Amino acid sequence: MTKSFNALAMAQEKIADLDQQLLKRSLRVTNTPCDTHIQVAGRHLKAFCSNDYLGLANHPDLINALAEGGELYGAGSGASHLISGHSIAHELLEKKLASFQAEHIPNVRALFFSTGYMANLAAITGLAKLTQRGEVSLYSAKLNHASLIDGVRLASAQTNAVVSLFDHTCPSSLIELLKADKKPLKIIVTDGVFSMDGDLAAVKELLKIAEDYDALLLIDDAHGFGVLGKNGHGILEQERLCSDRIIYIGTLGKAAGVSGAFICAQDSFIEWLIQKGRPYIYSTATPPAIAHTLLKSLDLIEGEEGCTRRKHLNQLITIWQEEMTFVNWDKVSSCTPIQPVILGSNANALMASTLLDGEGYWIPAIRPPTVPLGSSRLRITFSANHSAEDLRELIATLKVIEQKVIGKQA
Ligand SMILES: Cc1ncc(COP(=O)(O)O)c(C=O)c1O
Repeated sequence: MTKSFNALAMAQEKIADLDQQLLKRSLRVTNTPCDTHIQVAGRHLKAFCSNDYLGLANHPDLINALAEGGELYGAGSGASHLISGHSIAHELLEKKLASFQAEHIPNVRALFFSTGYMANLAAITGLAKLTQRGEVSLYSAKLNHASLIDGVRLASAQTNAVVSLFDHTCPSSLIELLKADKKPLKIIVTDGVFSMDGDLAAVKELLKIAEDYDALLLIDDAHGFGVLGKNGHGILEQERLCSDRIIYIGTLGKAAGVSGAFICAQDSFIEWLIQKGRPYIYSTATPPAIAHTLLKSLDLIEGEEGCTRRKHLNQLITIWQEEMTFVNWDKVSSCTPIQPVILGSNANALMASTLLDGEGYWIPAIRPPTVPLGSSRLRITFSANHSAEDLRELIATLKVIEQKVIGKQA
């Protein structure tokens, strides 16, 4: 038997603390592909929790492309991009990703990453190194995704960047801060679609502010890429923005149905990130078969099928907005497939999630630190593979669950 030692006792104590605060998370093992109906431990559940907004994760064309990619390029890339891991499949994917943003960023180039987390770390830390230590200011939206928060923290530790947080619902609060800022490099960092609330950043206003005060605007459109805009190109297409000071980040494991992420920016910024973006340089390139699969996914997103899927998704959003009414709980105003229901305490969110599970639904309780203290919630997400009937059944169930949770509280 292993002897107990300090670090082990600390870990056990910390985990017990989390459990006591109802903050311990646990893994559930699925044994069917990602879709709206999933098997978990032999049980059949209706899932309203993935980010597979267009329902492409289990699309036959992508499964075929993955097999074809394996035939063409083998299983692994074997090295980082700058050594020998950069294949023609990566190159073609980057060209296609850049073409999606060509109307929005002049002289645009794309850089592919294995995850959005890495892309965000690389973009923020890499750009912060464009100037001397202590000469950069980072303005970060308070409710940004953890990967942006970590990118900002790491950049601050590496370059002594000054960090200011702002409320994304009040972008004008940035003006006074920027007016007083004499640093040569300023970067505004924001989610495009806020991942836990589903609302959009005021990107037009932020771009105007960035232009007026000579800042870069970094937008993480993880939840907008594939979903927003007529062609699914994302928030820049939807809001018709064009600027050479935009750094656009999209992820490819959500609406695109596969995995990975990319940064789109002016060629010189991308060239700099290839030179200095440590998460890019010091990590093995994603298997080229994944890049090959993603090329097919981009075709679907841009083509007729993507348009049809986005239309259906929008119909689901309208049904939710019109038909879901709660007595006590708060809905957030969101025009995206992310539709949270705020329950407040961890206990209530867990209770609602457990009751939903009993009714055959998979909707986990989202708790701090993913969301602010006191705003624990059900994060309900729609996929184009949900039918209107699926959604109406969920709405009916949620109304019953609300009463049950309120009853148990009383
Ligand atoms: C807004 C946002 N950015 C970045 C990421 C990270 O992307 P990935 O899952 O590809 O690492 C996520 C993931 O959930 C996200 O919600």
